[in-house]
Amino acid sequence: MAPSQSTMLGSVKDIPVGDMNVAKAGDREILLIHLDDGRYALDNFCIHGGCRISNGKLVGETLRCLCHGSVFNVKTGEVLDGPAPSPQPTYSVFVKNGEIFLAP
Ligand code: FES
Repeated sequence: MAPSQSTMLGSVKDIPVGDMNVAKAGDREILLIHLDDGRYALDNFCIHGGCRISNGKLVGETLRCLCHGSVFNVKTGEVLDGPAPSPQPTYSVFVKNGEIFLAP
């Protein structure tokens, strides 16, 4: 996993614990979320209807899409409630030298 082959998504100092931020990676929009035990990344477009989940409500390790109420586990993308037909896509990220990278 060489950082030179990975896409930088932002700086760790920009996303305090309990917060989230949107980053671009090519044509993808990725939602970065910082929880107590690490950083997690989800596709920012809801698997149900394409709304931006960055507009949703983060509670602990769950995120509710405000369009139709689907609730996802931030760590796994698992659907916990609502109409989403399948898990929200997730991405692996890692931190190096204070920067957050999308794993290749
Ligand atoms: S678009 Fe997110 S629940 Fe429908």
